[in-house]
Amino acid sequence: MTAPGPVLVMGAGAVGCWIGGCLAATGVPVTFVGRPRVLDALRAHGLRLTDLDGGARTIAADRLSLSTTPSPDDKPALVLLCVKSGATAAAAGELGRVLPEGTLVVSMQNGISNPALARSHAPWLTVLAGMVGINVVELGPGRYHRATSGALAAQDHPALRAWQPVFAAAGMPLELQADLAPLQWGKLLLNLNNPVNALSGLPLRAQLLERDLRICMAALIDEALTALRAAGIAPAKLTPLPPAALPSALRLPTPIFRLLAFRLLRIDAKARTSMANDLMQGRSTEIDALCGEVIRLARDHGTHAPLNERISELVRAWPSDPRACTGAELRAALGV
Ligand SMILES: NC(=O)c1ccc[n+]([C@@H]2O[C@H](COP(=O)([O-])OP(=O)(O)OC[C@H]3O[C@@H](n4cnc5c(N)ncnc54)[C@H](OP(=O)(O)O)[C@@H]3O)[C@@H](O)[C@H]2O)c1
Repeated sequence: MTAPGPVLVMGAGAVGCWIGGCLAATGVPVTFVGRPRVLDALRAHGLRLTDLDGGARTIAADRLSLSTTPSPDDKPALVLLCVKSGATAAAAGELGRVLPEGTLVVSMQNGISNPALARSHAPWLTVLAGMVGINVVELGPGRYHRATSGALAAQDHPALRAWQPVFAAAGMPLELQADLAPLQWGKLLLNLNNPVNALSGLPLRAQLLERDLRICMAALIDEALTALRAAGIAPAKLTPLPPAALPSALRLPTPIFRLLAFRLLRIDAKARTSMANDLMQGRSTEIDALCGEVIRLARDHGTHAPLNERISELVRAWPSDPRACTGAELRAALGV
């Protein structure tokens, strides 16, 4: 399968190394733009990709094109914007300064507003929304692991259609949708678990098997569903259950939840949310791109999201009180 041109990964981290690595493994020319910490590891060890289905691939270091900044010589046919939300403006600015007008950029980020933010910092690039439905964790230097199954999606654009067979050949079918907002919101509802997971200090699977923590997630989702209804947005269904049924399912006793959610729980023990990693490493989190979107949507449509506000405060307060919460403590803090 011949790609329409080279790919540039802007932000070589978990998602960027995984998606870019899968493309590179099938022969697509990929340049990884990242931080020295990540690039040095890739130079030393190559890129090792594993997944929960037992798949494993290695791309030798001498086959990787690595850079700390995008260059005018890159001339990518497709850019995958894979930085965290707080880095979007700067990354888009860097891309905008060197890439030709009209270069296709797909935001592979969580949240809702990153594509618009990137567009505002590089208006001459063609920035499209994307959605990454998989969890990827960094297991060690140059080692990235897909810890769940899930799909990739992006906003439809004629130039992106030629990439669909390329992504499919790399084992990551790319679904194109005229309006990505329902999928973005459907993913955001699930991402409301990220602060719960991060504050619990538990791996994702273990956390989802604790009812008190699921009750917190359910309460955050309930608030978001109220705001979405007020805004007339119907979030897409990304799990076997429709979004409106998620809170009730999450509140079920664990033995029943375990039976009902066996597909949702097809998460290997290594999976953690990236917000958990950010908190542990004292980095800023994407809380504003997740709960913040719910708070703003509620405010704009005459409702309130006090639980999303409260959990945002808890995440922001973490650096001064870095202590994992039990489910009971988090329920008490949220009053649910
Ligand atoms: N990980 C997942 O499973 C997953 C799944 C779905 C969606 N997502 C979303 O995908 C996005 C990326 O997440 P991630 O987990 O892949 O993050 P990540 O592992 O932190 O990777 C992003 C990398 O980009 C680097 N970076 C930031 N600005 C840069 C710049 N201007 N030039 C070069 N490198 C730059 C970051 O360095 P610094 O740390 O120094 O800034 C970091 O190494 C987020 O929006 C996340 O919510 C993640």
